Amino acid sequence: MPHRPDKHDAASLAFATRAVHAGNSIDPGTGALRTPIVMANSYALPDDPSTMSWSGTEVPLYTRNSGVNQLALQAKLAALEGGEDAVALASGVAALHAVFFTFLRAGDHVVVADVTYEASWRLFAELLPEKYDIQATFVDASDPDAVAAAIRETTRLVHVEAIGNPTTKVADIAGAARVAHAAGALLSVDSTFTPPPLYRPLADGADLVVHSLTKYINGHGDAMGGAVIGRRELIARIKADAMVDVGGVISPFNAWLVQRGSITLPLRLRQHQETAARLARVLEADPRVAYVAYPGLASHPQHALATRQFGGRGHGAMMAFAVDGDADAQNRFVSSLRIITSAVSLGHDESLIVHVGTSGPRVATYPDEFRRYGHLRFSVGLEDPGDLETDLRAALDATFG
Ligand SMILES: Cc1ncc(COP(=O)(O)O)c(C=O)c1O
Repeated sequence: MPHRPDKHDAASLAFATRAVHAGNSIDPGTGALRTPIVMANSYALPDDPSTMSWSGTEVPLYTRNSGVNQLALQAKLAALEGGEDAVALASGVAALHAVFFTFLRAGDHVVVADVTYEASWRLFAELLPEKYDIQATFVDASDPDAVAAAIRETTRLVHVEAIGNPTTKVADIAGAARVAHAAGALLSVDSTFTPPPLYRPLADGADLVVHSLTKYINGHGDAMGGAVIGRRELIARIKADAMVDVGGVISPFNAWLVQRGSITLPLRLRQHQETAARLARVLEADPRVAYVAYPGLASHPQHALATRQFGGRGHGAMMAFAVDGDADAQNRFVSSLRIITSAVSLGHDESLIVHVGTSGPRVATYPDEFRRYGHLRFSVGLEDPGDLETDLRAALDATFG
């Protein structure tokens, strides 16, 4: 049973109402109030299928085109981001690749933020140039003049992260959109660190918003997924080219998990952000901490931009910091933590931290303090804020004896 846009998807409803209801409908077969998990690869065809498009994505046909749970999740994501349509894929990286694969061809040029998630960086620095002759220029995306200076005749896409992974550099989205559109290019924004209702890049002129659903939107660390949200005609191209014919689709079970997890997104985000702001202040005030990069701190280079751009709704819950010592000290600190877990990923209910060193090709563009100390990327979770503060303080005590 395909999801049909209904009153719960309406943009006039408040975000929390959409978070509960959008994309969900009463199951006509059972009367269940929740869209059930439909584990089927294939769906019954109409009496005369001879004129059907086998690449069609609007009605359930084949799960690589359109499964029930994928359609429901897509409707919800479009409602949450304020886009016309969405495509849900197997991971955030599948979603990023889907954008690049769909809208770029050999000979094209891309302007990319100099701070992005590792896979985006590698796609633009290594894989797309080597395999497809797509060239990229990496720029400081907090500065629209730097984006403008990098534009070429062949620029087709500007790609940035609203808050960049891992340094938390903030991109000027309205500025990047102006520059991209003046050049006839699209702007795609990876908004994984800034899920709605914190920020909606489409309202600032972005053409495409990318999410790793694995992170805040699912929020429970138990499912992978990715999505792109935007205008109907752009999303239709991604579905046709990258979903149906490349095939990195989300499983029905993961789509259902993400749909369920996203119900509490506004509540979770509020708590994530409140605790992150508190812990960032605690860490910054401690002389044993070398630096803290968190857009909510007045010391952050894009603090004013972030506050304006995110409309005072917060600054996210991701930060990077280092203790005042060498790599061994960073490791001692992490291994002394009792509640905060050393693991990759972010946006989960539990707090996660990962120690990243000072080597590697990307580090050259990071701020001096990241190059000197490395960094601890810290995803602030939903545990009691006092317990987290105690954990950090005790680990600092253990590290510096
Ligand atoms: C900003 C950002 N975009 C995309 C991804 C990739 O998402 P996934 O792990 O779901 O493929 C990540 C993963 O950490 C990320 O941090």
